[in-house]
Amino acid sequence: MAEIGKDIQYAKRLLEAGELVAIPTETVYGLAGNALNTNAALEIFEVKDRPHFDPLIVHVANLNSAEHYVEEIPEQARLLADKFWPGPLTLLLKKKRIVPDIITSGLDTVGIRCPNHILTHALLDQLTFPLAAPSANPFGYVSPTTPEHVNEQLGGKIKYILDGGACQVGVESTILGFEDNTPVIYRMGGLSIEAIEDVIGKVTVQLHSTSNPKAPGQLKSHYAPRKKVVLGKMEDLLQEYPAHVSGLLTFKQNFNSPFQFVLSPTGNIEEAAQNLFLALREFDKMPIDIILAEFVPEKGLGRAINDRLRRAAAL
Ligand code: TXA
Ligand code: MG
Repeated sequence: MAEIGKDIQYAKRLLEAGELVAIPTETVYGLAGNALNTNAALEIFEVKDRPHFDPLIVHVANLNSAEHYVEEIPEQARLLADKFWPGPLTLLLKKKRIVPDIITSGLDTVGIRCPNHILTHALLDQLTFPLAAPSANPFGYVSPTTPEHVNEQLGGKIKYILDGGACQVGVESTILGFEDNTPVIYRMGGLSIEAIEDVIGKVTVQLHSTSNPKAPGQLKSHYAPRKKVVLGKMEDLLQEYPAHVSGLLTFKQNFNSPFQFVLSPTGNIEEAAQNLFLALREFDKMPIDIILAEFVPEKGLGRAINDRLRRAAAL
């Protein structure tokens, strides 16, 4: 198993030696390596068992540092970064040549973000290179929101997990790019569309571009637990499926089942997001055959939660 600790200097030494370290962010844990080192990038794909057509997000300490890796920062991107970085927003921007093609899967844009976590920020501040970091889970599985989740799945393949506690946001960053200078959201995530639109006005959302997915996080059966997930109104689902072999995932309602997870008893959408991936993992460990889940209100972070539920169900 990997060692779990708060030693930034040790993490730094490993990364400088081209090795991988799991790092905390406000969204989910990342599997980090030197983004300018092709071998480290290859190792990330290897450890995650991730197809090479799925590009990696590059993490930087601040907007100034981002300028080293992107050709230009459109005005709207700059406004968003000024307002929301560090935070759960990934910007797809035209890459500079210094960013290896393996990072972007040959695309001419690079996904770049500045994570909001004190430990990872301190680490990035001390490194002379940015960090490529996909979520620290095997490809297609639920993202980890604690160091223990990382250890359960990737612990045998990496040396060190930087312990930043449980992730505050709990769902991955929102991904925003530009098409003909028009902002497009490719993945709903930890920064709400409402917050983005308050700064740059109306944005379009393009979650499924089937033939050539711009963001493979758009693949339908992504973020999936091992068990089958069925979505609907809980009362209706319980008519259809036997309660004793079903896990119940609800927003706030308590059904008094031994196999249930209430995302937020008080109906708080941020708390629900924090708990989502934890809940899906718990169900995988329970003696149940199926996960019955209901949608949360479709606003704010609720959109990202519902998006992950739909993908988890699309097996
Ligand atoms: O919150 C997050 O974004 C977390 C933490 C660790 O930062 N990272 C994360 O990475 O979720 P990952 O690799 O699990 O998901 C990144 C998504 C993928 O679906 C990838 O296809 C998309 O971002 N992506 C990255 N670079 C891209 C690019 N240049 N063009 C289109 N999509 C890109
Ligand atoms: Mg991921």
